[in-house]
Amino acid sequence: MRKKIIAGNWKMNKTPLEGKAFATDMAVRCDVPDVDVVFCVPFVMLCPVSGATKPTSVALGVQNMHFEDAGAYTGEISSPMLAHFGVKYVIIGHSERRAYFNETDETVNKKAIKALSSGLIPIVCCGESLAQREQGVTMEHIRMQVKLALAGISADDAAKVVIAYEPIWAIGTGKTATTDQAEEVCAGIRKVLAEIYNEETANQIRIQYGGSVTASNAADLFAQPNIDGALVGGASLTDDFEKIVKYNQ
Ligand code: PGA
Repeated sequence: MRKKIIAGNWKMNKTPLEGKAFATDMAVRCDVPDVDVVFCVPFVMLCPVSGATKPTSVALGVQNMHFEDAGAYTGEISSPMLAHFGVKYVIIGHSERRAYFNETDETVNKKAIKALSSGLIPIVCCGESLAQREQGVTMEHIRMQVKLALAGISADDAAKVVIAYEPIWAIGTGKTATTDQAEEVCAGIRKVLAEIYNEETANQIRIQYGGSVTASNAADLFAQPNIDGALVGGASLTDDFEKIVKYNQ
Protein backbone atom coordinates (compact mmCIF):
# COMPACT_ATOMS: atom_id res chain seq x y z
CA MET A 1 0.00 0.00 0.00
CA ARG A 2 1.36 3.38 -0.99
CA LYS A 3 0.85 6.11 1.60
CA LYS A 4 -0.96 9.12 0.15
CA ILE A 5 1.09 12.29 -0.21
CA ILE A 6 -0.61 15.66 -0.37
CA ALA A 7 1.68 18.60 -1.05
CA GLY A 8 0.75 22.26 -1.07
CA ASN A 9 2.55 24.33 -3.71
CA TRP A 10 2.37 27.83 -2.32
CA LYS A 11 3.99 29.26 -5.48
CA MET A 12 4.95 32.96 -5.11
CA ASN A 13 2.43 33.87 -2.44
CA LYS A 14 2.45 35.34 1.08
CA THR A 15 5.08 37.32 2.97
CA PRO A 16 7.22 35.46 5.54
CA LEU A 17 5.01 36.74 8.37
CA GLU A 18 1.83 35.68 6.59
CA GLY A 19 3.39 32.33 5.74
CA LYS A 20 4.39 31.75 9.35
CA ALA A 21 0.91 32.58 10.65
CA PHE A 22 -0.79 30.39 8.05
CA ALA A 23 1.59 27.46 8.57
CA THR A 24 1.35 27.63 12.36
CA ASP A 25 -2.41 27.15 12.14
CA MET A 26 -2.55 24.80 9.14
CA ALA A 27 0.26 22.45 10.25
CA VAL A 28 -1.64 21.56 13.43
CA ARG A 29 -4.84 21.00 11.44
CA CYS A 30 -3.02 18.80 8.93
CA ASP A 31 -1.13 16.71 11.50
CA VAL A 32 -2.59 13.35 10.48
CA PRO A 33 -0.94 9.91 10.66
CA ASP A 34 -2.28 8.34 7.46
CA VAL A 35 -1.16 10.94 4.88
CA ASP A 36 2.22 12.53 4.19
CA VAL A 37 1.55 16.27 4.15
CA VAL A 38 4.05 18.74 2.69
CA PHE A 39 4.17 22.55 2.53
CA CYS A 40 6.28 23.62 -0.48
CA VAL A 41 7.08 27.19 0.42
CA PRO A 42 9.10 30.07 -1.07
CA PHE A 43 12.77 29.91 0.03
CA VAL A 44 12.56 33.03 2.23
CA MET A 45 9.88 31.36 4.36
CA LEU A 46 11.92 28.29 5.24
CA CYS A 47 13.03 29.66 8.57
CA PRO A 48 9.64 30.80 9.94
CA VAL A 49 7.68 27.90 8.43
CA SER A 50 10.13 25.24 9.65
CA GLY A 51 9.49 26.49 13.19
CA ALA A 52 5.75 26.08 12.61
CA THR A 53 5.90 22.59 11.10
CA LYS A 54 8.52 21.14 13.45
CA PRO A 55 6.12 20.10 16.27
CA THR A 56 3.87 18.36 13.70
CA SER A 57 4.19 15.59 11.12
CA VAL A 58 3.96 18.12 8.25
CA ALA A 59 7.12 18.07 6.12
CA LEU A 60 8.84 21.02 4.54
CA GLY A 61 9.39 21.32 0.79
CA VAL A 62 10.53 23.90 -1.75
CA GLN A 63 9.54 24.59 -5.33
CA ASN A 64 12.90 24.40 -7.11
CA MET A 65 16.66 24.09 -6.55
CA HIS A 66 19.88 24.17 -8.58
CA PHE A 67 21.71 21.00 -9.59
CA GLU A 68 25.15 22.22 -8.47
CA ASP A 69 26.21 22.47 -4.81
CA ALA A 70 27.77 25.93 -5.15
CA GLY A 71 29.25 28.28 -7.70
CA ALA A 72 28.65 31.30 -9.89
CA TYR A 73 24.88 30.88 -10.33
CA THR A 74 23.45 34.26 -9.38
CA GLY A 75 20.08 34.03 -7.70
CA GLU A 76 20.05 30.26 -7.28
CA ILE A 77 19.68 27.99 -4.21
CA SER A 78 21.49 24.66 -3.78
CA SER A 79 20.65 21.45 -1.93
CA PRO A 80 23.25 21.90 0.86
CA MET A 81 21.61 25.26 1.64
CA LEU A 82 18.21 23.57 1.91
CA ALA A 83 19.46 20.81 4.21
CA HIS A 84 20.06 23.42 6.92
CA PHE A 85 16.31 24.02 7.22
CA GLY A 86 15.27 20.38 7.34
CA VAL A 87 13.76 20.46 3.84
CA LYS A 88 12.58 17.00 2.79
CA TYR A 89 10.90 17.50 -0.61
CA VAL A 90 11.64 19.57 -3.70
CA ILE A 91 9.26 20.15 -6.60
CA ILE A 92 11.16 19.75 -9.85
CA GLY A 93 10.07 20.66 -13.36
CA HIS A 94 6.76 22.33 -12.55
CA SER A 95 5.14 23.45 -15.81
CA GLU A 96 5.41 27.08 -14.70
CA ARG A 97 9.19 26.67 -14.37
CA ARG A 98 9.32 24.94 -17.74
CA ALA A 99 7.24 27.70 -19.36
CA TYR A 100 8.74 30.81 -17.72
CA PHE A 101 12.22 29.87 -16.48
CA ASN A 102 13.75 27.68 -19.19
CA GLU A 103 13.46 24.43 -17.24
CA THR A 104 14.09 21.56 -19.66
CA ASP A 105 13.90 17.78 -19.45
CA GLU A 106 17.69 17.84 -19.11
CA THR A 107 17.75 20.22 -16.12
CA VAL A 108 14.87 18.32 -14.55
CA ASN A 109 16.95 15.14 -14.77
CA LYS A 110 20.05 16.83 -13.31
CA LYS A 111 18.03 18.30 -10.46
CA ALA A 112 16.29 14.98 -9.70
CA ILE A 113 19.66 13.23 -9.54
CA LYS A 114 21.10 15.96 -7.28
CA ALA A 115 18.05 15.92 -5.01
CA LEU A 116 18.30 12.16 -4.51
CA SER A 117 22.04 12.23 -3.84
CA SER A 118 21.42 14.99 -1.28
CA GLY A 119 18.76 13.02 0.58
CA LEU A 120 15.87 15.10 -0.76
CA ILE A 121 12.75 13.58 -2.31
CA PRO A 122 12.03 15.07 -5.73
CA ILE A 123 8.41 15.68 -6.72
CA VAL A 124 8.92 15.46 -10.48
CA CYS A 125 6.21 17.17 -12.51
CA CYS A 126 4.96 16.20 -15.93
CA GLY A 127 1.89 17.14 -17.91
CA GLU A 128 0.53 17.86 -21.36
CA SER A 129 -0.70 21.11 -22.89
CA LEU A 130 -4.25 21.50 -24.17
CA ALA A 131 -2.95 21.26 -27.77
CA GLN A 132 -1.18 17.99 -26.99
CA ARG A 133 -4.33 16.56 -25.42
CA GLU A 134 -6.45 17.65 -28.36
CA GLN A 135 -3.99 16.10 -30.81
CA GLY A 136 -4.10 12.80 -28.91
CA VAL A 137 -0.41 12.77 -27.97
CA THR A 138 -0.80 13.10 -24.20
CA MET A 139 0.73 9.75 -23.32
CA GLU A 140 3.62 10.10 -25.81
CA HIS A 141 4.51 13.43 -24.24
CA ILE A 142 4.21 12.18 -20.64
CA ARG A 143 6.19 9.07 -21.46
CA MET A 144 9.03 11.18 -22.87
CA GLN A 145 9.04 13.55 -19.90
CA VAL A 146 9.07 10.71 -17.35
CA LYS A 147 11.78 8.72 -19.13
CA LEU A 148 14.04 11.75 -19.55
CA ALA A 149 13.47 12.90 -15.95
CA LEU A 150 14.51 9.52 -14.57
CA ALA A 151 17.44 8.85 -16.93
CA GLY A 152 20.37 7.40 -15.02
CA ILE A 153 18.41 6.99 -11.75
CA SER A 154 18.58 3.53 -10.17
CA ALA A 155 15.47 1.55 -9.24
CA ASP A 156 16.27 1.98 -5.53
CA ASP A 157 16.41 5.75 -5.91
CA ALA A 158 13.42 5.88 -8.23
CA ALA A 159 11.28 4.16 -5.60
CA LYS A 160 11.66 7.29 -3.43
CA VAL A 161 10.62 9.71 -6.18
CA VAL A 162 7.15 11.23 -6.31
CA ILE A 163 5.73 11.92 -9.77
CA ALA A 164 3.14 14.68 -10.11
CA TYR A 165 0.90 14.44 -13.16
CA GLU A 166 -0.35 17.95 -13.82
CA PRO A 167 -2.14 18.62 -17.10
CA ILE A 168 -1.14 22.20 -17.90
CA TRP A 169 -4.66 23.09 -18.98
CA ALA A 170 -5.97 22.19 -15.52
CA ILE A 171 -3.51 24.27 -13.47
CA GLY A 172 -5.07 27.33 -11.87
CA THR A 173 -7.96 27.23 -14.33
CA GLY A 174 -10.64 25.60 -12.22
CA LYS A 175 -10.82 22.92 -14.95
CA THR A 176 -9.93 19.70 -13.18
CA ALA A 177 -9.25 16.66 -15.30
CA THR A 178 -12.07 14.17 -14.79
CA THR A 179 -11.19 11.34 -12.44
CA ASP A 180 -11.12 9.03 -15.47
CA GLN A 181 -8.73 11.29 -17.38
CA ALA A 182 -6.45 11.65 -14.34
CA GLU A 183 -6.48 7.92 -13.56
CA GLU A 184 -5.85 7.00 -17.20
CA VAL A 185 -2.63 9.03 -17.35
CA CYS A 186 -1.47 8.05 -13.84
CA ALA A 187 -1.96 4.38 -14.76
CA GLY A 188 -0.05 5.06 -17.99
CA ILE A 189 2.80 6.60 -16.00
CA ARG A 190 2.95 3.50 -13.80
CA LYS A 191 3.24 1.37 -16.95
CA VAL A 192 6.13 3.52 -18.17
CA LEU A 193 7.80 3.12 -14.75
CA ALA A 194 7.40 -0.65 -14.98
CA GLU A 195 9.04 -0.58 -18.42
CA ILE A 196 11.97 1.51 -17.20
CA TYR A 197 12.42 -0.47 -13.98
CA ASN A 198 10.10 -3.33 -13.03
CA GLU A 199 6.60 -3.89 -11.60
CA GLU A 200 7.80 -3.85 -8.01
CA THR A 201 9.51 -0.48 -8.34
CA ALA A 202 6.60 0.93 -10.34
CA ASN A 203 4.23 -0.11 -7.57
CA GLN A 204 6.34 1.66 -4.95
CA ILE A 205 6.47 5.04 -6.71
CA ARG A 206 3.81 7.51 -5.63
CA ILE A 207 1.99 9.38 -8.39
CA GLN A 208 0.09 12.55 -7.56
CA TYR A 209 -2.51 14.36 -9.60
CA GLY A 210 -2.36 18.16 -9.72
CA GLY A 211 -4.51 20.80 -11.37
CA SER A 212 -7.43 22.56 -9.67
CA VAL A 213 -7.70 20.02 -6.85
CA THR A 214 -10.24 21.17 -4.26
CA ALA A 215 -12.02 19.78 -1.22
CA SER A 216 -14.91 18.76 -3.48
CA ASN A 217 -12.96 16.65 -6.00
CA ALA A 218 -10.11 15.28 -3.82
CA ALA A 219 -11.87 12.19 -2.45
CA ASP A 220 -12.93 11.00 -5.92
CA LEU A 221 -9.45 11.48 -7.31
CA PHE A 222 -7.82 9.70 -4.37
CA ALA A 223 -10.18 6.74 -4.73
CA GLN A 224 -8.53 5.91 -8.07
CA PRO A 225 -6.10 3.00 -7.88
CA ASN A 226 -3.15 4.87 -9.39
CA ILE A 227 -3.60 8.31 -7.80
CA ASP A 228 -1.58 8.50 -4.60
CA GLY A 229 -2.31 12.07 -3.57
CA ALA A 230 -2.14 15.56 -4.99
CA LEU A 231 0.00 18.56 -5.68
CA VAL A 232 -2.28 21.42 -4.70
CA GLY A 233 -1.77 25.02 -5.78
CA GLY A 234 -4.55 27.54 -5.14
CA ALA A 235 -6.40 25.48 -2.53
CA SER A 236 -3.21 24.95 -0.50
CA LEU A 237 -3.44 28.59 0.60
CA THR A 238 -6.96 28.29 1.99
CA ASP A 239 -8.93 26.39 4.63
CA ASP A 240 -9.70 23.88 1.88
CA PHE A 241 -6.25 22.35 2.29
CA GLU A 242 -7.23 20.78 5.63
CA LYS A 243 -10.33 19.29 3.98
CA ILE A 244 -8.23 17.85 1.14
CA VAL A 245 -5.84 16.31 3.66
CA LYS A 246 -8.82 14.89 5.62
CA TYR A 247 -10.55 13.67 2.44
CA ASN A 248 -11.42 10.35 4.06
CA GLN A 249 -13.11 11.72 7.20
P1 PGA B 1 -3.72 24.56 -8.89
O1 PGA B 1 -2.13 24.39 -9.10
O2 PGA B 1 -4.12 23.60 -7.80
O3 PGA B 1 -3.89 26.02 -8.48
O4 PGA B 1 -4.37 24.26 -10.18
C1 PGA B 1 -1.54 23.13 -9.07
C2 PGA B 1 -0.06 23.27 -9.28
O5 PGA B 1 0.35 24.12 -10.08
O6 PGA B 1 0.74 22.53 -8.69
